[in-house]
Amino acid sequence: MNTTVKTSKRLTIGWKTRHLLVIIISVIGTYAFLESRAQWSEMHRWNRAIGDMSVILIAFSMAIGPLSRLIPRARAAIPWRREFGIYGVILAIIHTFIILAGWVEWEWMRLFGYQLHPTGVYIMLKQGFGLANVIGIVALFYGLVLALSSSNWSQRILSGPIWKYLQQSAYVLWMLIVVHTAYFLYLHFQDYHRAVPEPNWVQWPFAGLVTAIIVLQMAASWKTWRLRRDRMPPGQQSVAG
Ligand code: HEM
Repeated sequence: MNTTVKTSKRLTIGWKTRHLLVIIISVIGTYAFLESRAQWSEMHRWNRAIGDMSVILIAFSMAIGPLSRLIPRARAAIPWRREFGIYGVILAIIHTFIILAGWVEWEWMRLFGYQLHPTGVYIMLKQGFGLANVIGIVALFYGLVLALSSSNWSQRILSGPIWKYLQQSAYVLWMLIVVHTAYFLYLHFQDYHRAVPEPNWVQWPFAGLVTAIIVLQMAASWKTWRLRRDRMPPGQQSVAG
């Protein structure tokens, strides 16, 4: 009895401490990304460092669910999902703001790949840039809905099934982020007419992160499927798989 109380006390960290720790992780991580690419122009350096940190926080948030299904001890990390998700979205908002102010300078047409021609009309020049930004905008909108709906208050207002549906579809947000990031990491700067910059060192770690999340999700789904199958009466097991 005593041991249980001690263990749960040791593992329980209040929400204020969690917020503080996630802020500290975000600041240290962003600083490390900034320093690792010190030779880049300020705008690219900052928006990418913050974008990269946002992806890491959202990946942590995505990993906790399957991890806790695979390793029971990891269930202690479940409350952290919320803070990782919320600060991931806050960083994505800052990342977007830097792009809007520093790259497209609030010219909305440029955000969607158009450029102002000397004749005074906008012409489409960067289809990939436009599409990747649209995917980023949808991801940001989705992330905002998830972050706003992750409080206890909205959990009560939305009622169980709707809230659960919203939170479970976080995988859609993750897929949008993966496509958006992959475009800028592997494709955008490949240009036949201009010098191709040095590859971003984040390319391989990003591929590793995406693979790790897929492996975790597959392993957790496989474990859930096996547990359900084992609980079925023997006669029905062959039908199930
Ligand atoms: C959940 C939302 C978002 C996340 C997690 C995210 C994340 C990222 C990441 C990780 C990168 C690549 C960083 C690197 O190359 O190291 C990136 C690049 C970029 N993102 Fe986003 N992004 C999001 C939303 C948006 C939105 C809404 C826009 C447009 C308004 C946008 C525009 C861009 C641009 C233009 C780049 C290229 C930056 C550069 O080359 O300097 N992103 N984003």
